[in-house]
Amino acid sequence: MSPDFRAPAASLARARRVVVLTGAGVSAESGIRTFRDTMEGLWKEFDAQKLATPEAFAADPETVTRWYDWRRLGCLAADPNPGHLALAQMEDWLAASGRDFTLLTQNVDRLHQKAGSRNVVELHGSIIEWRCTRTGQKLIPPEQAFDQFPPHSPFAERALLRPDVVWFGEPLPAAALAAAAHAVDSCDLFISVGTSSQVYPAAGFAELALHQGGEVIEVNPQQTPLTRMATWSLRGPSGEVLPMLLDEARKAHV
Ligand code: OAD
Repeated sequence: MSPDFRAPAASLARARRVVVLTGAGVSAESGIRTFRDTMEGLWKEFDAQKLATPEAFAADPETVTRWYDWRRLGCLAADPNPGHLALAQMEDWLAASGRDFTLLTQNVDRLHQKAGSRNVVELHGSIIEWRCTRTGQKLIPPEQAFDQFPPHSPFAERALLRPDVVWFGEPLPAAALAAAAHAVDSCDLFISVGTSSQVYPAAGFAELALHQGGEVIEVNPQQTPLTRMATWSLRGPSGEVLPMLLDEARKAHV
């Protein structure tokens, strides 16, 4: 064990209320592409303004829904990696000693739930669910490609289905935001995993945690705007770092 892990692991071992925020990086080792990485980031190859905004959907619903359906099928085919599994184990371990754990995720892939995480707040919605553009009713489409693009809504005439994700320019779901604010407000440890810390409001949560006296661990192979503020920055892939951190915390917990 690298000595770098001892202090953050001790913080996890003594924490009473833990909040974890995850971003696309936690799913990278499951083969799901991130958004901003220099080589494989989705926003290097695709134009977010043409795909991930309400305006793009209004202008070209066929292209937008084809792109989201392609990503949906990729998420359905993916398996959780050791990073997701370590977070599910962390929740069980903390719960067993009456401690609080909240997992805030910007990811829409549902891999945390597939790994067994229970208290998950989906800040940016989910690509696995779609909703009616007219009534807002949701459904989980079958695990195969839609047979028409854009897909028609079964809930209302002349309405479409759209992915239940948050697009640029749209507000985050109010209930998710309230749950996140509540958890961050009272946490004594905040762990930021695999996010570039560039998209707000999620990017501001670590700072809020620090302001109210919490400690912050960052897990990321790269530096981010959070790195200089974090109490500890653990440089490496989450599939390696999170199992090591949990292991060391378990040893330190008495
Ligand atoms: P980004 O693509 O912006 O950042 C991914 C982060 O993961 C980077 O900081 C990488 O260094 C890091 N990373 C890469 N591989 C990793 C690994 N194996 N382990 C740990 N970290 C790794 O993704 P997000 O920060 O999630 O929003 O992006 C936030 C939001 O912007 C997304 O939810 C999405 C996007 O546009 C919407 O679509 C609204």
